[in-house]
Amino acid sequence: MAVGILLVGGFGTRLKPLTSESPKPMLPVAGLPVTEHQILAAKRAGIHTLVLATSYLSEVFTPYFGDGSKWGMKILYAVEKEPLGTGGAIRNAAQMLDLANLGDEPIVVFNGDVLSRHSIADQIKFHQAHSADATLHLIEVEDARAFGCVPTDQEGRVTAFLEKMESPVTNSINAGCYIFHPSVLDRIPLGEVVSIERQTFPALVESGRPVFGYQEQAYWLDVGTPAALFKGSRDLISDEFHAMEGSTIDPTAQITGKSSLGRNVTVAANASIDDCIIGDNVTIGEGVHLSQCFIFHNAAIPAGLHQSRHYLSTAITEPINL
Ligand code: GDD
Ligand code: MG
Repeated sequence: MAVGILLVGGFGTRLKPLTSESPKPMLPVAGLPVTEHQILAAKRAGIHTLVLATSYLSEVFTPYFGDGSKWGMKILYAVEKEPLGTGGAIRNAAQMLDLANLGDEPIVVFNGDVLSRHSIADQIKFHQAHSADATLHLIEVEDARAFGCVPTDQEGRVTAFLEKMESPVTNSINAGCYIFHPSVLDRIPLGEVVSIERQTFPALVESGRPVFGYQEQAYWLDVGTPAALFKGSRDLISDEFHAMEGSTIDPTAQITGKSSLGRNVTVAANASIDDCIIGDNVTIGEGVHLSQCFIFHNAAIPAGLHQSRHYLSTAITEPINL
């Protein structure tokens, strides 16, 4: 058993315009918010209580996830008035967990924009077997510059934490899922802006505390850019397209390119939809042609519209840089 904190408070600047009306973790990927994919993974790993550490557009999480009972866990919400950074957010969210009574129950922290199929349960076992203060999921990537670069020694012990460096010393990066011993949280000051990557991890390593890297090369993706979000959605779809419940698709409509359709989507005659992400309660008019478009919830696309690489909602139409 374990408890969790999910970091969902970033601005998602690199995802604009997709994040104009929704925080990045609530963007749909294969029909479900990124956060929901993570909640399902957390549940599989035996996490019974999860705090969503929210800041930007915090109000959209509660109506969707409620008390968490739909997912068989307890979901709580921590709200930062001003973003506290990753470390400050973790410390703030931890206040909602009954730390004094956790005993040695590990705390699992997730970046809110990562799709990962690694085994969180195995990461926890590794953490406990090493009596670590912190255990970081690490993954090898070709270009480590945009990530936290994490060299380890032969035993898997982390020897440095180097956030976003120009000349990475290793291809092994921080994959954004950590297991913490509760004592680590005492090291983070409450109510201050703190970066877990730039401050807490380097300080832990420098002070000689046991910080370990858990290497697992399962499917992994940071959906932090529009191209990555589209890829993440396609990767989760095995058929030509995926539609959630309540959709009505005219038999003459063509839906291809691993498009995803949210709940209650209506597609009229002779429409074509290729490599698109479509939210809930969307209506696509007759003869509409959409390619690599992101259609936000509740939009009505007028008949005959031809559009590619655009974000469309009831309020906004903007190009997407894919
Ligand atoms: N609550 C809260 N408050 N959440 C925050 C804040 C904040 O002030 N700042 C960032 N977050 C959340 C973001 O929403 C995201 O889910 C997560 O923290 C990580 O922030 P990103 O902005 O996505 O960071 P990144 O992708 O550049 O780098 C991070 O992830 C990489 C792996 O994807 C770092 O952890 C890197 O070390 C790591 O390699
Ligand atoms: Mg990110």
